[in-house]
Amino acid sequence: MNNYKIAAIPGDGIGKEVVAAGVQVLDAVARQSGTFEADVTTFDWGSDRYKATGSFMDEGGAEMLRPFDAILFGAVGAPDVPDHVSLWGLRLAICQPLDQYANVRPTRVLPGIRSPLSNVGPDDLDWVIVRENSEGEYAGQGGRSHRGLPQEIATEVAIFTRAGVERIMRFAFALADSRPRKLLTVVTKSNAQRYGMVMWDEIAAEVAKDFPDVTWDKMLVDAMTVRMTLNPRSLDTIVASNLHADILSDLAAALSGSIGVAPTANINPEKTAPSMFEPIHGSAFDITGKGVANPVATFWTVAMMLEHLGEAAAADRLMKAVERVTAESRFHTPDLGGTARTQDVTRAVIAVLEGRN
Ligand code: NAI
Ligand code: MG
Repeated sequence: MNNYKIAAIPGDGIGKEVVAAGVQVLDAVARQSGTFEADVTTFDWGSDRYKATGSFMDEGGAEMLRPFDAILFGAVGAPDVPDHVSLWGLRLAICQPLDQYANVRPTRVLPGIRSPLSNVGPDDLDWVIVRENSEGEYAGQGGRSHRGLPQEIATEVAIFTRAGVERIMRFAFALADSRPRKLLTVVTKSNAQRYGMVMWDEIAAEVAKDFPDVTWDKMLVDAMTVRMTLNPRSLDTIVASNLHADILSDLAAALSGSIGVAPTANINPEKTAPSMFEPIHGSAFDITGKGVANPVATFWTVAMMLEHLGEAAAADRLMKAVERVTAESRFHTPDLGGTARTQDVTRAVIAVLEGRN
């Protein structure tokens, strides 16, 4: 029996509600599998801790996570804490030291869920967006001088390294190669950004030579929004820089029906440190505490975590259970136009897993 040590960091707002639901479902999958156990340790890191102690996590927090097999994360962000402080104080403070450089964001229209695009069903939109997760526009380089004066200056420097670009391209080409269509679109902006993005394109072409079975093309990021909206069937695997993929993946989530169903994985592909799995949505102050957060993104996130741990059969069983439940509109939460509550959806998924439905 495999015993996985999972660190759960619910964080703030609905992060707490959806991670609690995710852990219930993880326990149910583990019980059913008979092949593994999940031993969950919960960390109370987040904005409340920051407001009380001045720090989002324990000292050396990222190092405390190293012994775990995987991390399940909720969301961070509170109305009275600036977003750049919370993001850098917790989420990026984990991703960067643990070198989770590949952010993977699958998007599908799940059964029973309607895309806002007309005539787009489950077979028409099946993408995986790979986001460079360690450098680019979010490398954290820059500064501000002469604060408050008319000549105040702020720089936000995008960093593209050959090593950083090459490793994400290799990851994306290999992922495309593993999917049936073997199709990769490299998102760029090399017409306007003539250094970093031109190197990005050149390295894509170099890496492509090692993946002769993958058909790939290049797309400017602005034109990509049009293609995603008007011709979703033409896309499969997508790779983009940290900023570009951040924006495109929110669009992708919306096109799949709701941000409340979209999962993501922050992967350390070499497994030199644990990877972190989270729904892509934030702490959603507007619905916090109401018990109506859609837990589907977190369930899909748990499935990605199981897949990463090598429990492919369990991951598959969980996704099938989730799809059985999304297919029924009585289990749709308000973001999907329904009236179900977080716990209704959670109980329904567990019932399917346990063969009671
Ligand atoms: P958000 O994702 O929290 O919410 C956007 C909208 O989507 C809201 O109307 C919300 O109610 C809805 N929504 C999100 N998740 C949902 C779910 N599971 N079920 C039903 N509806 C859902 O983004 P927003 O409002 O821009 O940010 C709120 C806070 O979250 C901010 O502090 C922001 O910095 C933080 N944030 C944190 C992230 C993270 O920790 N990875 C990611 C995105 C935002
Ligand atoms: Mg985002």
